[in-house]
Amino acid sequence: MPHADSSLVPDKIQTKTEFWDHVYSQLEGLLDGQRSWVTNLANASSLIYNSLLAFPIHFGNENKAVNWCGFYIDSHLFPSPRISKVNTDAHDSNRLLLGPFCGKPACQFIYIAPGKARGVCADAFIKRQTLVVPEVDLYPGHIACDGETKSEIVCPLILDVKGSVQALGVLDLDCLASNGFDEDDKVGLEKIAALVVKACDW
Ligand code: SME
Repeated sequence: MPHADSSLVPDKIQTKTEFWDHVYSQLEGLLDGQRSWVTNLANASSLIYNSLLAFPIHFGNENKAVNWCGFYIDSHLFPSPRISKVNTDAHDSNRLLLGPFCGKPACQFIYIAPGKARGVCADAFIKRQTLVVPEVDLYPGHIACDGETKSEIVCPLILDVKGSVQALGVLDLDCLASNGFDEDDKVGLEKIAALVVKACDW
């Protein structure tokens, strides 16, 4: 099967639970044999984004779809540059850096340092819990990368090594409609986040 076909959604899939189970099994195939988080997160964001666009049932009759799906990753996990002509503090400070994504351009980094942290991604990362935001305009500190976004869900990437728990980054999805995401999406995305964490070397 061509890789692109993994984001097709068969007609027999009708519920969100079936949808997320389907995306999970497609992602297992896409991640097989690869441990690079850059490569795997690139395919994961593309798969989730394009599968959601291929499944209009997800957003009901509003005909307004997901408009962004991607990752922000702890800056310390990015490889140090081997060749650099410019001094940058990107690796020195407590930030999430923009990782692989699908959608329009987005902010390069998000502060997670105490006193500076702001927005849904930083909150989900710090609290290590998924945040479902039905109306982004009502969320204190929300960072608007796209003024058209109305709702959002952010799921942390959690690595648990023998009880030592670490947040690696977040998976962020935006929607053009209010109330775009619900409990089914939370459950589905948390399973997908766990699969991504397990499938990669960090
Ligand atoms: N809205 C996010 C910022 C990232 S963009 O949505 C892609 C936030 O408040 O953290």
